[in-house]
Amino acid sequence: MRTTVFLDGAALKDFDALLDAFAAARLLPETCGRNLDALYDVLSENAAPFDVVIANAAEFHAAMGKRADELEKIFVRLKKEKGGAFRLFRLPEGETAYSASALASLLKGSPLPVTAQANAAAYLFQTLPGLNWAGFYQKRGPSLFLSAFQGKPACLAIPMGKGVCGTAAKRKKTVVVPDVHAFPGHIACDADSRSEIVIPLWRGKRFWGVLDLDSPLTGRFSDEDKALLEKAARIIEKYL
Ligand code: SME
Repeated sequence: MRTTVFLDGAALKDFDALLDAFAAARLLPETCGRNLDALYDVLSENAAPFDVVIANAAEFHAAMGKRADELEKIFVRLKKEKGGAFRLFRLPEGETAYSASALASLLKGSPLPVTAQANAAAYLFQTLPGLNWAGFYQKRGPSLFLSAFQGKPACLAIPMGKGVCGTAAKRKKTVVVPDVHAFPGHIACDADSRSEIVIPLWRGKRFWGVLDLDSPLTGRFSDEDKALLEKAARIIEKYL
């Protein structure tokens, strides 16, 4: 299971708050020393994969004070040592990490179902790091049809039961594919995609279609991402 540590420069006061964020993500035991060397040692020995997402990087740098440069060096060393098991993402300046309440207020008052889908796709694409596609397929008859999305142009229609989208639609269950090359029948819309998550959507009791997210990173979608996106789906469904 991948762990994500969100470090928002706009909210993080100092180095102590950064250590608290790692401790809250269970990456830093309470018994551990509260200094840079101890942080590096613990992270370097931790075998579980984890991601660090930095929002508002300039403020983050300022909040870390003297330790900012050392911290950068630690991230570079960890990347070298751990390869894909450690990933560092920086959100564009001013952009904050995903929040369910921000999504809910963004969608409020959407005049058409496609308006809500378009903004939801844009919001997820902007706030979840490491995606190359985010969008919707709506069921009509025996197939799913492309609706609002962000990313490269995609396949127009996917028969129920085919590909990752069709499989999730048929099973009426979220499907997480850590490596699309190992999923028989995966439909490659963007050759860059390596992992994918598809969440079924409902309008009341009636199946509506799916929310599909792709990433160029293998194993991008953790159990936490699945829970977060299923919650997002419940928010989006109000507007379908
Ligand atoms: N990969 C999907 C097709 C849709 S695109 O990823 C946007 C699938 O296998 O169903």
